[in-house]
Formats: sequence, structure tokens, C-alpha cells
Amino acid sequence: MAPIYSRIIATGSALPERVVSNTDLEKIVDTSDEWIRTRTGIRQRHIAADGETTGDLAFLAAQRALDEAGVKASELDLIVLGTTTPDIIFPSTACLVQQRLGANGCAAFDVNAACSGFMYALGIADKFIRSGQSKKVLVIGAETLTRMIDWNDRETCVLFGDGAGAVVLEASSEPGIHATCMHADGGYKELLWNPVGVSAGFKDEPNHGVRIKMAGREVFKVAVKTLDALVDETLQAAGMQASQIDWLIPHQANLRIIEATAKRLAMPMERVIVTVDQHANTSSGSVPLALDYAVRSGKVQRGQNLLLEAFGGGFTWASALLRY
Ligand code: COA
Repeated sequence: MAPIYSRIIATGSALPERVVSNTDLEKIVDTSDEWIRTRTGIRQRHIAADGETTGDLAFLAAQRALDEAGVKASELDLIVLGTTTPDIIFPSTACLVQQRLGANGCAAFDVNAACSGFMYALGIADKFIRSGQSKKVLVIGAETLTRMIDWNDRETCVLFGDGAGAVVLEASSEPGIHATCMHADGGYKELLWNPVGVSAGFKDEPNHGVRIKMAGREVFKVAVKTLDALVDETLQAAGMQASQIDWLIPHQANLRIIEATAKRLAMPMERVIVTVDQHANTSSGSVPLALDYAVRSGKVQRGQNLLLEAFGGGFTWASALLRY
């Protein structure tokens, strides 16, 4: 039987209207625009309005991707949504989005892999298509991470933003996605986590103690090392050389981490999509937001090879090498 591949046929994204600059944050915590820019590359972030949810952003991004694809919601046979900030505990945000799109009946579920959520969702969707189980899949990465930020903690509050991105995947006889890789190591859980929740219990604190905790320097070191190994593994899995990659579309957490990965691949920064300056770290939203920006700005062209990767709490890390 001829192999089946999955192809990205369209992308979409959504950002909250409200933009908060580094200078705005200087009024809240003891920080400076200069410190944030030089340590992270971030200049601004979008922050969800009161009442605006992950599902709202996911729905908008999904609708834009479906419109671009010319695919009706009723044609979808699967929705996979990466998020660590679901609207409610259940139903999943994927189910909430499915209902709003009018795709009722298809399978729909969330994936929680922290910042690697979209990359995990993409890898899973690819396997559904390759197995013949699904023909048209909506893959979303969406977050409102600023809802679980401690606005008194300058070490974390300057880093994150809200947003969503989506892709429509379709079964094809041509690649498509060449290879995906996924990994996790729960041994690192305490370096980047939000250690409250339903079963462990919430805390008797404002916002129920729901806050991101991070050991930034340690996360940085492991992220760089791990992403180096991940891009090597992904190239090997796809049987390709770094010189064949047209664009690196990395997780947008820190410009210095992105530059380190580009260096590993010997890719000039002109071939790297950078949106961290505009969006900050939108967790699962980051890679599909960057991809949609790259497509809509005309940088990424059909037929080019793209290397997508992400790293996040867990730790989790995942990648995809694909022909767009
Ligand atoms: N504004 C001003 N000063 C700040 C600050 C802020 N927002 N946050 C921390 N500092 C201070 C620290 O208190 C420290 O002060 P000290 O030297 O007096 O102790 C100093 O800046 C340097 O801190 P350090 O942690 O060494 O900085 P760094 O160069 O490692 O940069 C991060 C900090 C968080 C930007 C960086 O470690 C990072 O990006 N880590 C990865 C985080 C990440 O990507 N997480 C998500 C993964 S998905």
C-alpha cells in the first residue's frame, strides 16, 4: 500500500487585542525594558482581556485556518488541541472549540505537554493520518498563560503572553510531514511547574495559588542542550541534512535559546522565524503563531522544508520536520 503522509494545507492564528510593553511592566515590578530585551529578546506581549479564554483564541485561530483551507468544520474527523491553560477542567477545550465550530461528532481532545503542547498535538495528528484513521485534522496550540502568572515575580511575569495558532492537516500521497519526535523527562518537574491543581489541591491564597514557578537559569541550560540533541535526532529521523532546511520555526521563549539552536544547525538568523519580540512566550501557542506569521508574511513558501521544535515544562520536548 502506498504510504500516507499528512500535509499542512492552511494555518491561522489569534492574539488578544491588548498589548503590554516592557515599559508597561516597569510600572508593576522592579525591571527594565533593557533587561528584558537583552536577556530574552522580548519587547511586548499580548494579554487576554477579562473573560477572554484559551477557547476563544483557539476558536478564532481555528476558524481562520479552516477559512484559509476552504475546509468546512463538518469535514474534520479529529481535533487535537495543545494547552496547559484549558478554559475549564472538563470538557476539554478541544470539545468546546469543536462545538463552536460546528464539527460535532469528530474525536476531540486536549494534550497537556506545557510549551510543547502544539508539537505533541501535531505529532499525534500526523500518526492518526499516517495510520489511515483520519483524513482532515485540526491541530491547535492555544494558551492564556498570563492567567497563572505571579505579577509580583519579576523572574517569570516578564516572560509570558497569550495567543493561539492552528493548522489544518490533510492526508496526502506526498510529504508533508517527514518526521516527528517527542520526548519527556518528569525528573525535571520542579524546574518549571505549577504545582497546584484538582487532585493535589488548590491553596488558600489569592488565585488559589495557581502560579508558574521556574528556575530560569537551569531551564535555560537544559533547554539549549536538549534542543541541540533534538534537532540532530529530527534530521536523522527524516534522513536530511541541516543544509536542506529552509526555515527554523522554533519555540519562542528566549532569543538566546533560539540563536543557540540556529548555531547548532549552522543556520543564519535570516532563516529563523522570530516572533518572541512581539508575542513573548505563548507556550503551546508559540510555534503555530510563528508558523502562521511566517506563512502570511510570505516568508515561508510552498515546497520549502521547515523544522519546528519546542521545549517546555515536564520537561517535554518535541519537533517536526516537514515540507510545507
Ligand atoms: N528584571 C530585572 N532583573 C531581573 C529580572 C527582571 N525581570 N529577572 C531576574 N532578574 C535579576 C535576577 O534577580 C538576577 O539578579 P542577581 O544577579 O542580583 O541575583 C539577575 O537578574 C540575573 O538573573 P539570571 O537568572 O542569571 O538571568 P539570566 O541571564 O539567566 O536570564 C531568564 C533569566 C529567565 C531570562 C533566562 O534564564 C531564561 O530565559 N531561562 C529560560 C526560561 C524559559 O525559557 N522558560 C520557558 C521554557 S518553555
